Amino acid sequence: MLDVARSFCPLEELLGIIDAMALYKLNVLHWHISDDQGWRFPVDGYPDLVSEDRGYYSRDDINYVVSYAEKRNIMVVPEVDMPGHMIAALSAYPKLSCTGGPFVIPTGEGIFQDILCVGKADTIAFARKVVDTLCSLFPSPYIHLGGDEIPLDRWATCPDCQHRMQELGYKDEKALLGWFSNEIAAYAREKGKSTILWSDYVDASYDPSIITQVWNPLLGKHKRFHSNHQVIKSDYFHSYLDMSYALVPLSRVYRYGKSVQKDRKQNTKVLGAELLLWTEYLNTREKRESHLYPRLLAGAESFWTKDSKLSYTRFKRILTHDIQLVSDNQNNVNKPSIWDPLLLEQIKARRARKKRVTANSKEAGISL
Ligand code: ACM
Ligand code: ZN
Repeated sequence: MLDVARSFCPLEELLGIIDAMALYKLNVLHWHISDDQGWRFPVDGYPDLVSEDRGYYSRDDINYVVSYAEKRNIMVVPEVDMPGHMIAALSAYPKLSCTGGPFVIPTGEGIFQDILCVGKADTIAFARKVVDTLCSLFPSPYIHLGGDEIPLDRWATCPDCQHRMQELGYKDEKALLGWFSNEIAAYAREKGKSTILWSDYVDASYDPSIITQVWNPLLGKHKRFHSNHQVIKSDYFHSYLDMSYALVPLSRVYRYGKSVQKDRKQNTKVLGAELLLWTEYLNTREKRESHLYPRLLAGAESFWTKDSKLSYTRFKRILTHDIQLVSDNQNNVNKPSIWDPLLLEQIKARRARKKRVTANSKEAGISL
C-alpha cells in the first residue's frame, strides 16, 4: 500500500516502486489515492477535487500506471477512504458534509471530526460517482473503500443524518454507518467489483462479500478475524513501513511472513498480507526510500518463501546486491547498523506507539 494522498508521489518515483515490487514478486499495489490531506485523481462533475499545485494523477497517468504494473504482473487496487478521511474533498465541496464547512486541508497526522454526510442525497450521488470513476479507471476486480477511523459525532447532531436514520429505522449512528457501507459495496458489486474495507467497524451486519483489511492489533480477536469475511493482514507493528526501524525492525518484518503463512493454513479466509507506507511525514523521495528499503524486500521474501526455507542470514547477505537494484540513490537507503535496533529501543518504541494507537481508536469511537 502506498499513500500518495498525504504526500504526493511523482509518477517516475511510483514506477520505480513498481519495478522494485516486481523484482520481489509483490503482486498487488494498493494505491491510497485520497485522504484528508489530499485528493489525487479527477472525478467528472467535481473539478475542484484536484489542482495542479497540490499534485494529482491525470486519467492518462493512471492508465499508464495500471498498464505498467500489469506488464509486471502487478494488479493495482485503488482506495478511496470513505466516509471518513474526506477533508480534502469536503474543502472543495463543503455541501457534502453535515455542517457545510468551511474546511481547510490539514497537514500531518490526525483523525478529523468532519466526514461525509450520509443523510444528503448529493453525498450519496458523489460516493457513487467516485465508485463509477474507480471502476472505469481500474480493471482490478477489487476496490478498497476505506472505512477506518470514523468519528460519528457529526451524524449525531445532523438533521439530515438523523432523518435518514429514522427513515431506515436505526437506533444509532453505527447502524447508519453499516447501512452506508453495505449500500456502497452493493453498488460496487453491481459493477462487478468486490469491496475491501478496513476492519474497524465491520461486523456480522456487513455483507459477507466484503473483504476486511485488518491493521489494528489492539482490536479484539473477533474483530481481527471476523468469521463472515475474508481477511487481508497488515498488522501495524509488523507491516507499517512508515514507522521507525525501532518500532518495525527489519527482522520483525522478515518474521511476519511466517505468521501470515500459519494463519493461511489455519484459516482459509486469509487472502494474504500487505506492507504499507503511509506518508504523513514521508514527504521526500529520500524519506520514502529509506523507510521502504530494505523492509519491503524482507516482507515480500517472507510472504512468498516456504516457512522451512526462510533464512534471515541468507536474506541479509543477498541484500547488499539487491539493494543496488531498487534505489538509484544509495544515500536514500539506511545503513545496516540501523536495521535492527537494540531490543530495549524496540520495546520503548512499541509502548509509546501503542498508547498513540489506543488514543486514536478512542477518538474514532472504536472500542478495543
Ligand atoms: C489505518 O492505519 N488507519 C488503516
Ligand atoms: Zn449529516
